[in-house]
Amino acid sequence: MKKFTKKFIQFTVGYLILLYLKKDRFYTYKETKILVKKGVFHPAFFFSTKFLISAIKTFNLTNKKVLELGAGSGIISFYCDKKGAIVTSSDISPIAINGLIENNRKLKANVTIIESDLFDKIPNQVFDFIIINPPYYPKKPNNDAEKAWYCGENFEYFEKLFKQMNPYNNGNTIVFLSLSEDCDFNKIASIASKNNFLLKKYLNKMILWERNFIYKVMPK
Ligand SMILES: C[S@@+](CC[C@H](N)C(=O)[O-])C[C@H]1O[C@@H](n2cnc3c(N)ncnc32)[C@H](O)[C@@H]1O
Repeated sequence: MKKFTKKFIQFTVGYLILLYLKKDRFYTYKETKILVKKGVFHPAFFFSTKFLISAIKTFNLTNKKVLELGAGSGIISFYCDKKGAIVTSSDISPIAINGLIENNRKLKANVTIIESDLFDKIPNQVFDFIIINPPYYPKKPNNDAEKAWYCGENFEYFEKLFKQMNPYNNGNTIVFLSLSEDCDFNKIASIASKNNFLLKKYLNKMILWERNFIYKVMPK
């Protein structure tokens, strides 16, 4: 698609979505109804969340230890919980954490919810799966809502992510990282590489106007 057309569609659709998201909203995905609080990344309007679910749904999750790092609304976490996984769900945003706690209670789910800046407060353990839908635009976030989008002017989010990941990943851990054509892949891959990880393309799909990717983060 031509760059200008893409920018125009993104701007118009983005504006309408922003208007809709000025209130708390309910969202149902595969019979799981959750409350998405104002200021929390809404999984209906962006492609990455459902794309990640399409990647994990091919695995048997029964009794598997899953970490959703930066869970937002938690729809991925609640999906994994329903599939029998032992789920830990974290976020840096207190509003997201409140929503996760409320949804966990209403759904009678069994997700462990931790407010944490990346791995800071995640107890040391090895996970079978780590699922990450990261912010990737290089700008300093000015508030919690913006942390869903901006990874810091110098990609500080990724610097810390790859530095902290080792103890939670024993080499057999499947780490899924969703990215899109809009991000600076080379920069993110170079930060991973500096920390002895490589990003291996796992899925690649054009969804409407945007090419989306899921990478596996592998030890080098
Ligand atoms: C793009 S959203 C994805 C939300 C959810 N995983 C999904 O796929 O719908 C990114 C999430 O990461 C969270 N986040 C950003 N920086 C973080 C950090 N340093 N530590 C933990 N979570 C963070 C944001 O608050 C936001 O909820």
